[in-house]
Formats: sequence, structure tokens, C-alpha cells
Amino acid sequence: MNVGDRHYRTIWLSDDGRSVDIIDQRWLPHDFRVEKVGTVAGIATAIRDMWVRGAPLIGVTAAYGVAMQMADDPSDAALDGIWEVLHETRPTAINLRWALDEMRGFLRPLPSGQRAEAAYRRAGEIADEDVGLNRAIGVNGLEIIKEIAVRKRPGEPVNILTHCNAGWLATVDYGTATAPIYLATEAGIPVHVYVDETRPRNQGAQLTAWEMAGHGVPHTLIVDNAGGHLMQRGQIDMVIVGTDRTTADGDVCNKIGTYLKALAAADNDVPFYVALPSPTIDWTVGDGLAEIPIEQRSSDEVSLVWGKTANGEIAQVRISPDTTPAANPAFDVTPARLVTGLITERGVARASREGLKAMFPGR
Ligand code: MRU
Repeated sequence: MNVGDRHYRTIWLSDDGRSVDIIDQRWLPHDFRVEKVGTVAGIATAIRDMWVRGAPLIGVTAAYGVAMQMADDPSDAALDGIWEVLHETRPTAINLRWALDEMRGFLRPLPSGQRAEAAYRRAGEIADEDVGLNRAIGVNGLEIIKEIAVRKRPGEPVNILTHCNAGWLATVDYGTATAPIYLATEAGIPVHVYVDETRPRNQGAQLTAWEMAGHGVPHTLIVDNAGGHLMQRGQIDMVIVGTDRTTADGDVCNKIGTYLKALAAADNDVPFYVALPSPTIDWTVGDGLAEIPIEQRSSDEVSLVWGKTANGEIAQVRISPDTTPAANPAFDVTPARLVTGLITERGVARASREGLKAMFPGR
């Protein structure tokens, strides 16, 4: 998507053909910084410390990390080693494992002398594929927005609630939950987005709001606890969120707080949609609550908040007593029964094993 006049993806191969340039998301919305990352250790840090984040982008970044490893050492041992190192960086987003499996499965049969070049090529293809998947999700999700728009008075916007950032910053381009929103805006369908701030990392306030502002999408930032109240008052027409892992039974794991939005949506008959590319489906898991590992992040993310001070400095402040412990589960699981539909690149599936199998026969 564009930043100013220039089109950016979130990650691209650097001019040296060996490193990647990434948008370093830690500084948004205050500062737009591009970082060059050229080592495997740098890739692991960028994923773990959330310079890049969002399930699809984590996967693509890891794919480039495998390519960097192959340029250093293309042996089988190194291929297995980098799989382990990168797999540990963030445990919940299944796109990470998907991309690592994809790279290892592709590279293993090749002679070691050909692996580095092939790995960079395959990582680039995975990045391109992500853009195509998201665009298709956008086309399918747009149909849902259109159906709601025709029931509105002329000029009245479709009010969409979203949680966290499942925007272009979370993918290579377009985003998942935001792709239908961007396409609706391009089609001249009035939409208005309620952006959950998404404590503790504030991906909504910092990233989704920045995206919406940058692309001229009318939006309003709300605290995480406001969504239910707005739904009770008929101010939300639909919810669209992304997901870090959706099970074969249709359970949806996403940023902490998603489950509460789904509960409120069910209680108020607000449709609750999840947008996802097929690499986010974990076909090996049925019961999301029992089987998906939930990332536990540092308590500092809860106790300390980043912001921009009046003198323009980007800094952290503590919001709780020094001695108060904090817990920080980063994701939760929304049971399939609370999900209206899964917007995939192939169409909108029912959130159930039958629904997903019908959309992806042969899996
Ligand atoms: O911790 P994050 O910022 O990586 O979490 C991101 C999310 O929860 C997104 O909703 C999810 O990855 C889908 S991104 C298209």
C-alpha cells in the first residue's frame, strides 16, 4: 500500500540480493523507519521483538531467514537447525511453521550448491503469493460489505469493528481483515471502522489507525472495552478480525480480546467474520482451546506503555506500581460456534470442519 506517494510492501529483498528491508513497526505511528536485516540472528530478533508482526508477515520473514541460512551454510543440518531456531521465535502464529515447512520441503531434495539461490527465489514467491491471497480475501469480503451496504440509507456508512492489526502491515500487502475494507473504499462504498486500541501492544491504536488514516478510511479509535457497548446500541454492523491460527474445526485463535468481541457480537446478533489465507489453517488441530500454544509475552508490555512525549521523544511510561506483577497472554481462542464465517481466498466458509473441507477439498 502507499505511504505518501510511494508504494511499499512490508518486506522486500534488498539491493544486495541477500538482506531484506523491512518496515520496522516498533516506531509507528510516530516514525516510519525501514531497517535492513541481513543475518539469521537479525531475522529471529525482528520476529521475536515484533519489528515485524502479524501471522502472514512472520511467515514470509522466516522464509527469508531460511534463505540467509542457506547462503551461509546449505547443509541438511543447517536447514534443520534454522527451522528450530525460527520456529521458537513466536509460538502461536501457524504461518511461521507453514513457511518453515514449505521452505524445508522445497529445499531438501535440492543439491546443497543450489539451495541458497532457490531459497531466495521461493521466499520471494511466498511473499508474492501472500499478496494474491489477500487480494482474493478482499474480493470475497467485499461481497459481504456490499450486502450490508444495500440495507443502509444512502450515504450511511457500514460500521465495521476490528481488533488488533490484520492490515497490510501484518501481511506483505493489503492485509486480511483490511483487504475488504480497502476494496470497499476503492469501490466508493462508505465504510467507517471502529479500531480497538488492542492492549497491551496497541496494534490497533498504533498500526490500524495509522493505516486507516493513510488510506483515507473514516475511522474512530476506541478502548478495547467499548465494543460491546457500541454493539448494544446498534452502532456496529459487522466485525472483521484476522487470525494467527484457525483449526480444522473452525476455532479461531487471534489477538487477546478477540473472544470477548465475539461473545458480545453473538449476544447482539452482529455478524462476526474472520479473514484468513489458507496458510493460517492448522489442519493438524481440531480443538483450538486444548491444542493451540498461547504465547506468553513479557509483563513489561502490560506495565509499560510506549508513546510520544510533548517534546517529540518516543518513550515508555510505567502505569502500575513497580511491584505489581502482570500477566500477558497474547492470544485467545474464539470457538467456531461464535464465528459467522471465515473469509478465505476461495470464498466464505462456515466455521466448521465440514465448511472448511468443502472450501478446501483434499485437505
Ligand atoms: O502479536 P501480533 O501483532 O503479531 O498479532 C497479530 C494478530 O493477532 C493478527 O490479527 C493476526 O496475526 C492476523 S494478521 C493478518
